[in-house]
Amino acid sequence: MSALEEVRVAQLGKKGVFTERLKTLGALPAEERKEAGQLLNIAKQEIADAIDARAKVLASVEMKARLEKEWVDVTLPPRPQATGTLHPITKVLEELNSIFAEQGFAVEEGPEIEDDFHNFTALNFPENHPARQMHDTFFLKNDTKTLLRTHTSPVQIRTLLAGKPPFRFIAPGKTFRCDSDMTHTPMFHQMEGLVIDKNIHMGHLKGCVEHFLRRFFEMDNVPVRFRPSYFPFTEPSAEVDIGCSREGGQLRIGHGADWLEILGCGMVHPKVLANAGVDPTEYQGFAFGMGIERTLQFRNEMNDMRDMVEGDVRFSQQFGMVV
Ligand code: PHE
Repeated sequence: MSALEEVRVAQLGKKGVFTERLKTLGALPAEERKEAGQLLNIAKQEIADAIDARAKVLASVEMKARLEKEWVDVTLPPRPQATGTLHPITKVLEELNSIFAEQGFAVEEGPEIEDDFHNFTALNFPENHPARQMHDTFFLKNDTKTLLRTHTSPVQIRTLLAGKPPFRFIAPGKTFRCDSDMTHTPMFHQMEGLVIDKNIHMGHLKGCVEHFLRRFFEMDNVPVRFRPSYFPFTEPSAEVDIGCSREGGQLRIGHGADWLEILGCGMVHPKVLANAGVDPTEYQGFAFGMGIERTLQFRNEMNDMRDMVEGDVRFSQQFGMVV
């Protein structure tokens, strides 16, 4: 293949034989120029076709050689050392359930295929608001009202509409955004938390989130910082950072002068309560939401988030047991 590429460059490339020849056409008498040009182009095309034909043959030879070399006997019994472990995401979801169960949180679920109302409108995203675009939403074909949920917040709406206050639950689950790189996969998990009751204030939110982070990172004194932020469905809103160090390019949680963003939260917007059938003059509440893969990636020092969905058993073995 590489020898063929050399031929192609020598013949047809920018400095190739044909380019050079075409340059000499200008020196010919006008009546010869046209015919010579046509002949050159025909020859050039024939050579290009011959190279393409040869490339196809070589590609299929290479593929055949690869298939012969890389075959796998699928009838062999599994090797005994290749025992599975629970996926790290499954483990961490179980861990989150039990941390929040200690504080009396129930677990709620909602559908992964959502509608515009529950994912956006009821959560106080104005029509045409840039926040809608920021979510990189996957819409279902030919339909702008049905979508893969971009966060677990629609479970807030569904659960409130289906029940009566007070509420205290978490909602872990799959979420989807059109994004893929070292720190994003198009499918990822979030965990939502919601508490609705009478006389709930930001102090409750702070205490609940701080307690959770210290349990989850197993550090009683991990620094926690609340930073003002914006979400359409909470007011006031905050992002929560924990202390870390990035010295020498290595992320270490718990000590150092840097901060790492862990979750978003805030007091539930009165309009969201009203949209979900709860009287905002009687009840208040707080909500928080966190990306599971992201948090796990930092806690367990994983390089590329996409490894989490590749299905390589060595990954599960390496990370399945540490949680
Ligand atoms: N849903 C928000 C997000 O996906 C997170 C969040 C949840 C923020 C609840 C505040 C309260 O970014």
